[in-house]
Amino acid sequence: KKTVPLPQPSTAPFIGNLADIDMDYPTGSMLHLAKKYGAIYKLSLAGQDLVIISNWDLVNEVCDDSRFKKSIKGDLEELQTAVHDGLFTARGDEENWGVAHRVLMSAFGPLSIKNMFDEMHEVASQLALKWARQGPSEAIDIGEDLTRLTLDTVALCSMGFRFNSYYRQDLHPFIKAMYAVLVEAGQRGMRFLPGFFYHSEDRKFLENIKLLRTTARQVIDARKLSKGGDNRRDLLTAMMEGVDAQTGRKMTDESIIDNLITFLVAGHETTAATFQFTMYNLLKHAECYRKVQEEIDTVIGTGSITLEHIPKLKYLAAVLRETLRLNAPITIFAREPIKDEIVGGKYLIKAGTQIGCFLSKSQSDPKVWGPDADEFNPERMLDENFDRIQKEFPHSWSPFGTGMRGCIGRQFAWQELLLAFAVLLQNFNFVMDNPSYTLQVTQALTVKPKDLYVRAIPRDGLT
Ligand code: HEM
Repeated sequence: KKTVPLPQPSTAPFIGNLADIDMDYPTGSMLHLAKKYGAIYKLSLAGQDLVIISNWDLVNEVCDDSRFKKSIKGDLEELQTAVHDGLFTARGDEENWGVAHRVLMSAFGPLSIKNMFDEMHEVASQLALKWARQGPSEAIDIGEDLTRLTLDTVALCSMGFRFNSYYRQDLHPFIKAMYAVLVEAGQRGMRFLPGFFYHSEDRKFLENIKLLRTTARQVIDARKLSKGGDNRRDLLTAMMEGVDAQTGRKMTDESIIDNLITFLVAGHETTAATFQFTMYNLLKHAECYRKVQEEIDTVIGTGSITLEHIPKLKYLAAVLRETLRLNAPITIFAREPIKDEIVGGKYLIKAGTQIGCFLSKSQSDPKVWGPDADEFNPERMLDENFDRIQKEFPHSWSPFGTGMRGCIGRQFAWQELLLAFAVLLQNFNFVMDNPSYTLQVTQALTVKPKDLYVRAIPRDGLT
């Protein structure tokens, strides 16, 4: 079959297309390049090719698991130094991934997530209390406080560990180390000087990883010690006790450490970013805000929130889906052809070449979402519309990735987001601290709003 070369910006010696990418905000550069080069283009970064695809047809094509699989290169490959073949970073054929995946599937399933309701509620209520005490005139950096919320929630619900972040001005040392590892993992993939230039970065990277692993080890040891006195049925219990039916294997301590750290990393920034973008979208769309508020007041009223309320918050769910469409915090997930493939009918892509599904663009393809694809319009995400679109245009909405390697924490995040929004909107009226603020973002592993300050004005008293 006749093939044509992939569009590509011109390259420079040694660094390839590195100069085309703003390292502080790669997503912005990729958006810009998609406008210039179209729905598929190639970049050469530090000796590796990366193909970026940004429309629905192409994303749908590479989500076909019979031809493509998850690709572990760049950031993810670097993170393997820290968490090896933990769920997020493992190659598909690694046995430890299979064992952990099967052991954890039911622990992340609807029933277990429901059991986490009380602890999720507790952490969200602590935040409401903190904001109530601060009073209506305090400008709240919601990025910071919502990160505390999601981090404390994932640590408490998955392993019974309390960071108590609301009570600290500074970040916990574990968290500092975690961010440093994430940032360094991102930068290592872009190195173009010989290795010895990066000696001190390498040493710091390994030191930070050591701190992460030692802390996770302490959590496991504490659980082992409290045997009998501790009846928690959380993700840590599932990992320590579960036996994989397929291989008869249990997870090793090393693999449990890999996955504990993975949950903390994968589970908090993504959810915090979704929170912030949703808050921003609501504050910018007064009519949607009013509808969400009305729904919460009708479904829950002023009483305590229970598990039964959660699935009834249909409009809020639509708002979250629409936010994850326009502001997916993981802006790219990566695939690669299992063998050489022709993609889009005419582009030859060699086996193993990384293909980035660029959600920041592909999820607003007018072919799927119509002429107002760039607008925030939660109505299109109400259950019946959402189901229809998912059927008609598979993978057109994929903020949680795809297939077997899609997000295992999706239900966890969903319950946490609905619950915490309900707690917060039940108790406060939110306003932008600076009413003329327009969205600015920062990027590390995820993209999230920058300098978004709000005021939380208490409504009729806390519940
Ligand atoms: C995988 C997004 C919340 C744990 C993924 C992937 C995406 C994603 C896009 C696939 C990545 C890839 O293909 O390389 C999100 C978003 C979230 C969220 C947008 C919040 C709104 C969570 C939470 C947890 C979690 C709360 C854990 C408590 C994981 C894990 C994987 C994963 C372990 C790897 C699964 C595997 O490959 O077996 N997530 N995630 N995520 N996520 Fe999430």
